[in-house]
Formats: sequence, structure tokens, C-alpha cells
Amino acid sequence: MAASTLLFVASILLSSFALSCYASGTFSALQKSILLTSSPKSGQVLKAGEANITVTWSFNKTYPAGTDSAYKTVKVKLCYAPISQKDRGWRKTKDELKKDRTCQHKIVKRDYKPETDSVTWTVERDIPTATYFVRAYVYNAEEKEVAYGQSTNDGKKTNLFEVEAITGRHVSLDIASVCFSVFSIVSLAGFFYLEKRKGAASQQK
Ligand SMILES: *[C@@H]1O[C@H](CO)[C@@H](O)[C@H](O)[C@H]1NC(C)=O
Ligand SMILES: *[C@@H]1O[C@H](CO)[C@@H](O)[C@H](O)[C@H]1NC(C)=O
Repeated sequence: MAASTLLFVASILLSSFALSCYASGTFSALQKSILLTSSPKSGQVLKAGEANITVTWSFNKTYPAGTDSAYKTVKVKLCYAPISQKDRGWRKTKDELKKDRTCQHKIVKRDYKPETDSVTWTVERDIPTATYFVRAYVYNAEEKEVAYGQSTNDGKKTNLFEVEAITGRHVSLDIASVCFSVFSIVSLAGFFYLEKRKGAASQQK
């Protein structure tokens, strides 16, 4: 228990550190130059851990050629629809990208390519029950967001789908087993390190 608490605290510290290092601008300043569609039908209910989503995206060629010359990577994310953000401060939409909590679940990170790209993703087991849409952020070489595309029309209710979480008991069992595995790996690494040091010390004698 103590070990998993420690791990938990360590991962919180690490993620807040990562967040504070993250270069950020505002969402409203991004180019909406990516066309994106997701496979679920409007209102479809997907089971976490089972259902697959296919996301397809491409550069909107109405934008002048060369607009995408600074585009380097694409991160596709699952985002909370307004109905699932209501009364939940921890999912709040903020224009400042660093503070925005709309899109918390990464689907894939890829190098940007100007042609159509797509990914098929199995909804991960830890995705909570909620209504979602899909958004792709494009980053430049400095890992700053420069463009985006999304499966829904700004603020409208089209192309939203639902995820039904697997039961709480399974999730907590999964978390317990992940914590346990991490703990075993860390102790094993520590054990080898000590053994190696002991070996090195006895060689020096
Ligand atoms: C989702 O994709 C996985 C891996 O390709 C496959 O095994 C699984 O059957 C698919 N699930 C559904 C519901 O189609
Ligand atoms: C592509 O971009 C143009 C210019 O911003 C916009 O008018 C058009 O609606 C976009 N195309 C699609 C399919 O969204």
C-alpha cells in the first residue's frame, strides 16, 4: 500500500512538472486547417476496452499550399463534450491551452504528413463513461500547437458519441495490478543495482 501511494504521489509530481514545462498558446489562435472524421455514429455507445474507433484526418487544401510547412507532429485526442463537462471543473474548457482540460485522453501521436492519415484505436479500459468527440492538435518543431481539426462543428452537437466504462471493480483491480507490476520492476532494478555495486566494491579490494 505504502509503495503504491508513493508511486501515486511521484506520478502526480511528474505530471505537474511535465505540464508546467509544456509550451502553450491559446486555442483560438490555432489554424483550423485539419479535416477530421471519427467512425462512431452520432449518439453511438461504445464499450471501453472493446470498441474500436477509426479516426481519419487530412490537411484542408483550401488553405494556401505551404501553410503546413511548419507542421511536425499530430496528437489525436478524445475530448469531453460540453454535456460531460457540466459541473466538472476538472474537465473545463479554457482558451489557454495549458489550462484546457477538454481533451484528456491521447489516442495517438504521429509525425504529420500532408496526405490523409488514419488510426484505429480500441477505446482504452480506463476511459470513463461520458460523451466525447475527437480532436487532433498539430505541433511545430518547438512542440507548440499551431493547428487543429475536430470531429464536431464548434459547439454543435453533431458527431458526439458515448463511452460506457467497464465496471469500477475491474478498473481498480487493473490499477492495483499495474501498481504491483511497477513496484516489482522497481524493486528488481534496485536489487540488481545493489548486487552490482557489491560486486564492484569486492573487485576493488
Ligand atoms: C477491435 O479491434 C481489435 C484489434 O484489431 C479486435 O480484436 C476486436 O475484435 C475489435 N473489436 C470490435 C468490437 O470490433
Ligand atoms: C476548409 O477551409 C476553408 C477555409 O478556411 C473553409 O471555408 C472550409 O469550410 C474548409 N473545408 C471544410 C470541409 O471544412
